[in-house]
Amino acid sequence: MSIRMSDSALTDLPPVKGRQWARLCAASDVPADEGHRVGSVPPVAVFRQGGEFFCIDDTCTHEEYSLAEGWAENGAVECTLHCARFSLRTGEVLAPPATKPVATHPVAVVGEDLYGALPANYLTQKGG
Ligand code: FES
Repeated sequence: MSIRMSDSALTDLPPVKGRQWARLCAASDVPADEGHRVGSVPPVAVFRQGGEFFCIDDTCTHEEYSLAEGWAENGAVECTLHCARFSLRTGEVLAPPATKPVATHPVAVVGEDLYGALPANYLTQKGG
């Protein structure tokens, strides 16, 4: 999934220190209770839970595995490889074997699209 940086909506989003807004995907790309992997570097994953959208780093902090492949339930995502659980809101570890939290990122819904405030050092595809 590409990230476009040229959207006019980006200029309407509030600045977040040390971060850059990037289009993540269409809201319709994110099924309820499932993850959607976005191809930034490092990759991030978007989840829809209880009418809210969440964006976290996609790579499990236990071993390198995509959290977008996991199950989302009760505000948390469970890694499918060894079942570590992370809070979608805070990134904290809720169940081992992971011990380090996963990074979380602000999400904005603009029309039909989702934007994430990603750290400035994350690489995103420009032009889209
Ligand atoms: S890789 Fe996610 S729990 Fe092990």
